[in-house]
Amino acid sequence: MLELNNVTVTYPGGAGSLTALDHMDLQVDRGELVALVGPSGCGKTTVLNVLAGQVKPAAGTVRLAGEPVKGVLPSVGYISQADTLLPWRSVLDNVALAMELRGVDKKTRRERARALMAQMGLAGFEESWPRELSGGMKKRAAIARVLAVDPAILMMDEPFAPLDALTRQRLQDDILSLWETTGCTILYVTHDLTEAITLADRVVLLSARPGRVVGTYAIDLPRPRRVMDVKFSPRFVELEKTIWSALSRELAAAEGQP
Ligand SMILES: Nc1ncnc2c1ncn2[C@@H]1O[C@H](COP(=O)(O)OP(=O)(O)OP(=O)(O)O)[C@@H](O)[C@H]1O
Ligand SMILES: [Mg+2]
Repeated sequence: MLELNNVTVTYPGGAGSLTALDHMDLQVDRGELVALVGPSGCGKTTVLNVLAGQVKPAAGTVRLAGEPVKGVLPSVGYISQADTLLPWRSVLDNVALAMELRGVDKKTRRERARALMAQMGLAGFEESWPRELSGGMKKRAAIARVLAVDPAILMMDEPFAPLDALTRQRLQDDILSLWETTGCTILYVTHDLTEAITLADRVVLLSARPGRVVGTYAIDLPRPRRVMDVKFSPRFVELEKTIWSALSRELAAAEGQP
């Protein structure tokens, strides 16, 4: 469903160009939930931007559902690291934004946005302003906005990083049930190894910059999963230890970098 083949990305910069990804390969199958982990600055966001058609690789091929990526694609829902709601629009109009950009008529998009807000626990806040929502509610609204256009592929870049542990856990459960009901393909970037193992079918570990895949770990925890059901299981702890020892090597390698 998602495929990076031998992809190299370089960014021009003041002190010379910087290689963010170096001959990187990554495949995500249809319906798979893959978590991408690696040190800060290793190129995780770059991987998503390449797949979203927002960054052009210097070399290599990028395919979505077998087709080369040439620009931004409507079948991809991307919740970026910096994603925010537009402060001058009501929450409902924010949730309806992606539909509006795709030319869905006003009545349909407002109905759909209302239904999605209810599903995401935001009923009653349709006419609120984004500033009146909590951090977790804003994230749920951003997710609802993307879900409104039924993306076949969902890419999320550390969506819950700024949130408290309890809200994170609830939203992780939301992601799990969403994925179970829709069968969409998810590529999920996170710093948090525990989160990666909790959600994913497969955890892919990137090296310190320039990013390459240095490990891929099948997460054989039972499905359907809920955070609290798996988090304390012996298998979970075992997986966490194995992946952590590889991740900590990459964190140490990243430490010395500018
Ligand atoms: N638009 C850009 N122009 C120049 N350099 C960039 C740009 N975007 C990213 N970089 C550089 O590319 C490298 C990888 O960045 P990227 O954002 O992909 O990392 P990341 O793994 O997502 O990090 P984090 O976990 O901190 O979000 C970094 O060294 C960064 O400075
Ligand atoms: Mg990033």
